[in-house]
Amino acid sequence: MAKPKRRYVCQACGGVSTRWQGQCPDCGEWNTLAEEAPQTVFSAKHDLSSGGRPIQFTPLDQPGEMPRRRASGLAEFDRALGGGLVPGSAILMGGDPGIGKSTLLLQVSAHIARQTQGGGGGLSVYVSGEEAAGQVRLRAERLGLSNAPIQLAAATSVRDILTTLGMMDPPALLVIDSIQTMHSDQIEGAPGTVSQVRGCAFELIRYAKENGVTLVLVGHVTKDGNIAGPRVLEHMVDVVMSFEGERSHQYRILRSLKNRFGPVDEIGVFAMEGNGLAEVGNPSMLFLSGREEPMAGSAVFPAVEGTRPVLVEIQALIVRLQSGATPRRAVVGWDSGRLAMLLAVLEARCGLSFSSAEVYLNVAGGYRLSDPAADLAVAAALVSALGDKPLATDAVWFGEVSLAGEIRPVAHASIRQRESAKLGFARAFGPAGGAPPEKGLRFDGLTMLPNLVDRIL
Ligand code: TYD
Ligand code: MG
Repeated sequence: MAKPKRRYVCQACGGVSTRWQGQCPDCGEWNTLAEEAPQTVFSAKHDLSSGGRPIQFTPLDQPGEMPRRRASGLAEFDRALGGGLVPGSAILMGGDPGIGKSTLLLQVSAHIARQTQGGGGGLSVYVSGEEAAGQVRLRAERLGLSNAPIQLAAATSVRDILTTLGMMDPPALLVIDSIQTMHSDQIEGAPGTVSQVRGCAFELIRYAKENGVTLVLVGHVTKDGNIAGPRVLEHMVDVVMSFEGERSHQYRILRSLKNRFGPVDEIGVFAMEGNGLAEVGNPSMLFLSGREEPMAGSAVFPAVEGTRPVLVEIQALIVRLQSGATPRRAVVGWDSGRLAMLLAVLEARCGLSFSSAEVYLNVAGGYRLSDPAADLAVAAALVSALGDKPLATDAVWFGEVSLAGEIRPVAHASIRQRESAKLGFARAFGPAGGAPPEKGLRFDGLTMLPNLVDRIL
């Protein structure tokens, strides 16, 4: 048999090279290649002499056992998951440090543990690789959960964890906080390297699938927002969730980025309070600053997340530069590439000049906008800031802007209008010919970006 070759695996993207290089040829990151143990190759024989065992087929049309979803005790968490925890599934939860992942999962663990306390169900196991058991207990006390029968452990060895779990009844919920702190002695490399993360996740997921356990893996996020470790981790799990928000703000959004059992556009909204995360059932008012005075550069955007409307305030500030210095563009809560595009369209199609001005754009309340319909509201905020003309405080703006400067129709026009009317707004500006009229709301249809500029300036 040929000698297995050395492999070098990029710790950022998982790309494989046959020799060490300073830069990964696949993703271009520097100093990310690390040697991995060669993989042994086997060739399948088409009979039992290969040592393989026959697998079981189940016809699709035969009624099998449907795994019942289990409520997590937090309706917002269940909503983001598409309706509760699926037994035998693996969930990866990413998010910035300190955003509240451990807090959220401790609250869910406590609920599951209490639910199953009376017997019948199962246990709730929380394994922390980052904090000592005492620290987790302290947190539980702060959350008022210290009497919940969670099985708590501080451990990092996957072999120890799985050995222990193998000797007891499988729990209903297993939380691993975090996958980057886990290690397996059968795999080379320090905890957190691609091969360790992948190998440990593989073992844990296999255990979860075989035993009908819902597994939650906490994953760290790198500075560019990806879950640290290879992309393969996202392929291995059933659900990828991201817990977002600004640490300095109270509100947190739980989003599912991938979901094998449900929709991916629903969000869960929480508020971080003194005693943990509280659910926010009706978030549509949260991201409005609630001030009465009209102010230039502020526009309200009726966003829709999944099926839920959320009204968001967009703020723009424009500072004219005297010198010839390169002007800054800074964005919080929106895509900076999209802002650059919108500024270019405003210059090219409406004759406005931003070239010698600094542009700052902020989405209020630490919210991150992903809805493409925000273009028109951002444009309105920019034009209003540029002309120092406040927009009507009772107006909302939505629509997508094309490179040609057209204002294009967007999804959910009627949900946006209905929610705006409900919250007391009187006027909506949006793509012409879009939605049917809404009671109590005057709709102004716009077709081209210059129409918008005419309305404001
Ligand atoms: P944590 O769950 O440890 O974040 P992660 O696991 O994502 O790193 O949350 C830590 C932050 O949450 C910390 O800065 C304090 C804050 N916090 C509260 O405001 N209230 C609380 O009840 C708890 C437990 C934490
Ligand atoms: Mg944590």
